[in-house]
Amino acid sequence: GKVAVLLGGTSAEREVSLMSGAGVLQALQSQGVDAHAFDPAERDLHELKEQGFARCFIALHGRHGEDGCVQGALEMMGLPFTGSGVMASAIAMDKVMTKRVWLAEGLPTPRHVWLAPDQQDVAAIAAMPAQLGLPLIIKPPREGSSIGVTKVTAAADLPAAVAESLRFDPDVLGEEFIQGEEITCPVLGEGASARALPVIRIVPPEAGYDYQNKYFTDDVRYLCPSGLPEAEEREIQRIVLAAYRSLGCRGWGRADLMIRASDRQPFLLEMNTSPGMTGHSLVPMSARAAGISYEQLCLRLLAAART
Ligand code: DAL
Ligand code: MG
Repeated sequence: GKVAVLLGGTSAEREVSLMSGAGVLQALQSQGVDAHAFDPAERDLHELKEQGFARCFIALHGRHGEDGCVQGALEMMGLPFTGSGVMASAIAMDKVMTKRVWLAEGLPTPRHVWLAPDQQDVAAIAAMPAQLGLPLIIKPPREGSSIGVTKVTAAADLPAAVAESLRFDPDVLGEEFIQGEEITCPVLGEGASARALPVIRIVPPEAGYDYQNKYFTDDVRYLCPSGLPEAEEREIQRIVLAAYRSLGCRGWGRADLMIRASDRQPFLLEMNTSPGMTGHSLVPMSARAAGISYEQLCLRLLAAART
């Protein structure tokens, strides 16, 4: 039957989603799937039924696409969709809720401070360096692609970093900065049959890994195979798989982590439940290293679509 590739949407990651969706659409069509683009920013989701779509590939990122809202609507419409269901999507979209699950499971994640809208007074903001050390990271808890994220090296810069984060989310997340290497590790599957893919090491330019060089330059180097010692790679995959299962993810996901330079301890930063599928994106890169082409990856995710 007809497949809708959901792309675009209304989140701050709309631009990224349009690129992800275009890639997925082309790949599915090249494999003979009757796939069509569907942008929920332009059309009502209920048209999916009227237009005879049988399944959905979710290539939306961020709020109202990756956070359980679209998943809930599709579930109520009885339309199978790729990736995680309502609960895992909703928890994973929120980095604070995600940390609470991981902390309860004894999984390593950087120390954090959460400031709800009624807790963002000058004193609470000024207390962060004592709680988290410097540098520290300020980020909106429900965004992606590094949008609204600031690395704060001097306490005097905190108010501006908080203001930047507040442009995207009424809550603010302060996080301990982990000095070390940035890595990412995708997972495919569900429950006992979920498997971690090869780890990718991200080597950003001096200025860091941000929205611009994530998608629009070739300034970032990606190592996959990672070149990490095999025992270290296996340990990271074990942690990532536990992190994925603890959130109840299914279909696919991609955990972003830091490895602390001083003792090689990995720390989980977040789980993406609708990872990027752009030409610069990481799940396709890791899948390729595992012998899975971009087209095969799309077909496999679609085959696992369900409500
Ligand atoms: N949030 C972007 C799409 C990613 O994690 O790939
Ligand atoms: Mg993300």
